[in-house]
Amino acid sequence: MRHFVVVGVLVILLAGLTYIGLDTIGLMPDAASAQSIPIDWMWNWQVIAISFLFSLIIVPMGYSLFVFRRKKGDTTDAEHIEGNTALEITWTVVPLFIVVAFAYMGTFSLGEVLRADPNAMVINVTARQFTWTFEYPEYGVVSNELHLPYNRQVVLKMESMDVIHSFWVPEFRVKQDVVPGRVTEYRITPTLEGSYKVRCAELCGTSHAYMENAVIVASQAEYDAWVSEQQAIAAAAQTPEGQGQIMAVKNGCVGCHSADGTPLTGPTWFGLYGSEVTLADGTTVTADDAFLEESILDPNAAIVAGFPSPSVMPPYQFTDEEIATIIAYIKTLK
Ligand code: CUA
Repeated sequence: MRHFVVVGVLVILLAGLTYIGLDTIGLMPDAASAQSIPIDWMWNWQVIAISFLFSLIIVPMGYSLFVFRRKKGDTTDAEHIEGNTALEITWTVVPLFIVVAFAYMGTFSLGEVLRADPNAMVINVTARQFTWTFEYPEYGVVSNELHLPYNRQVVLKMESMDVIHSFWVPEFRVKQDVVPGRVTEYRITPTLEGSYKVRCAELCGTSHAYMENAVIVASQAEYDAWVSEQQAIAAAAQTPEGQGQIMAVKNGCVGCHSADGTPLTGPTWFGLYGSEVTLADGTTVTADDAFLEESILDPNAAIVAGFPSPSVMPPYQFTDEEIATIIAYIKTLK
């Protein structure tokens, strides 16, 4: 009997220490969603159960190794034990109750995690090798970053363009596969402002590990500001000058031609259109459409005074339309 009491006390002691140890090393990242509360609650009970089962095995084993060690010179057989019905019933029924209790907790947590808010904001998510795209139908915005307002439920309607991916933000706890040919849903209510990362949790190809995009949870005001900014960019991209600006950025023009008068390798575009330009040979020319077009297609045709000759700019090949948009953009810089 004394042995049972000692082992019982040691089991409880070690279970407590194991639980405290596991709890303090911080196995979980920050909890940043309402859905993480029921999940972390269940996880905590599992850690308690794990700590107890670990002690229940380790303590009697270790205790037996030391206390019931064979004495020197003792060659007798150990005592033969022929089963114990009461013990067998106990170790069948008690775990059964524990498993049923965890099944209940699991069902309860799942219900909480899936609880749908009718006012949830819809965001369409497209997964492809190897990035995520987020479309906000409510605002007509498309982004490679997932921006979420604080404390409003969002429902992600997710589709894959190619293979199976899996949407996973550890701080939100919930994970959901994205499967080609069907739409899967993911509900989340962010409750902690900050920057996180969505990572792909399904091996989907060579760059699977790099399939990470930013997730930003911000206050409603900051979120609204971001939406307006994105809407302005989207609207600008519809105009010729907006497209021209995108062309100029994409083709690296802005690396040498500043938009604000800053001296760079090439003449600034600020105030350029319509101005009188002095060339290297001393003549002057008006920077009109024809001059700009010629300078883009054949940079050596006319070198502006003070810049290297021959020109360090490579000749570009653009369509007439593309040149028109770039010139439209240059016209706005004054
Ligand atoms: Cu997408 Cu892994």
